[in-house]
Amino acid sequence: MTDPAIAANGLRKSYGDKTVLDGVDLAVPEGTIFSLLGPNGAGKTTAVKVLSTLISPDPASGRIRVGGHDLTTAPQAVRAAIGVTGQFSAVDGLITGEENMLLMADLHHLSRLEGRQVTAELLERFDLTEAAKKPASTYSGGMKRRLDIAMTLVGNPRIIFLDEPTTGLDPRSRHTMWQIIRELVSDGVTVFLTTQYLEEADELADRIAVLNDGKIAAQGTAEELKRLIPGGHVRLRFTDPAAYQSAASALREVTCDDESLTLQLPSDGSQRELRSILDRLDSNGIEADELTVHTPDLDDVFFALTGGTAIPTQPKEAAR
Ligand SMILES: Nc1ncnc2c1ncn2[C@@H]1O[C@H](COP(=O)(O)OP(=O)(O)OP(=O)(O)O)[C@@H](O)[C@H]1O
Ligand SMILES: [Mg+2]
Repeated sequence: MTDPAIAANGLRKSYGDKTVLDGVDLAVPEGTIFSLLGPNGAGKTTAVKVLSTLISPDPASGRIRVGGHDLTTAPQAVRAAIGVTGQFSAVDGLITGEENMLLMADLHHLSRLEGRQVTAELLERFDLTEAAKKPASTYSGGMKRRLDIAMTLVGNPRIIFLDEPTTGLDPRSRHTMWQIIRELVSDGVTVFLTTQYLEEADELADRIAVLNDGKIAAQGTAEELKRLIPGGHVRLRFTDPAAYQSAASALREVTCDDESLTLQLPSDGSQRELRSILDRLDSNGIEADELTVHTPDLDDVFFALTGGTAIPTQPKEAAR
């Protein structure tokens, strides 16, 4: 097996007596998307900063390797392998998009010619060629974010850290950004992504970790995380009170809502379970007006893991 692109054991970081990261273990295989989720202040940006060498981990941390290099003993080698797009834009508004790119090329010691080539290619790829000669302060939020990522790619990094790349973007720009991220990964780049949008992690990430109270509260694929919490159910809605009553007595384990004539049964949403529910209704000659299946989504997982309270036993919708 090849070395993971990012591997951290017992990553710790405190500011004074405030512990922000309290022993975080992570392993991100090469060429995959890893998403770190967590509420405001959970320590996502801190994790990105430590892993990208912008701040040092506490000495009590275990071994941390990025791009095959030890973070503490070989920070320069780590820096050469990575690119970072911070939570807050690194774009200089006073100069043009193109000038921002050329500045990055200089920082990466590219020759003038190489710098111009890379800049032209990336501006084209991120649909910024037309705006290239305009001051970046005139760009929209989405354009600035694209320029930010284009600047990160100038050094052709194999590992990219994206701290909330789509916060504040409209749905179309967000989808464009997702497309960009997928293309990076199909080129073999490893992406470490933080996000507030569970849908985004669900959409993009191979693996997701939920950070809470300085520790990883849960880690896995979106499907694995959803299976961690209860909440899957089938809901049947009736308009005929008599049909509603017969269904309530024909079915097991139902929660009744007499006002809306709605029944709810716990279910994993499998074909077998659905069939057994429908068979029971059929054999009693009952027809529901509406049947919906609710499987827990990442929102349920997020609230269950970061709420500071026990995992709710009530499905989210029923609790409203
Ligand atoms: N330089 C610093 N000095 C002291 N405390 C800090 C410093 N930087 C961050 N913190 C604290 O560390 C905690 C984690 O902050 P961090 O920015 O990593 O959270 P985050 O998960 O990125 O949040 P957000 O979703 O709001 O971006 C917060 O309580 C923050 O106040
Ligand atoms: Mg942050």
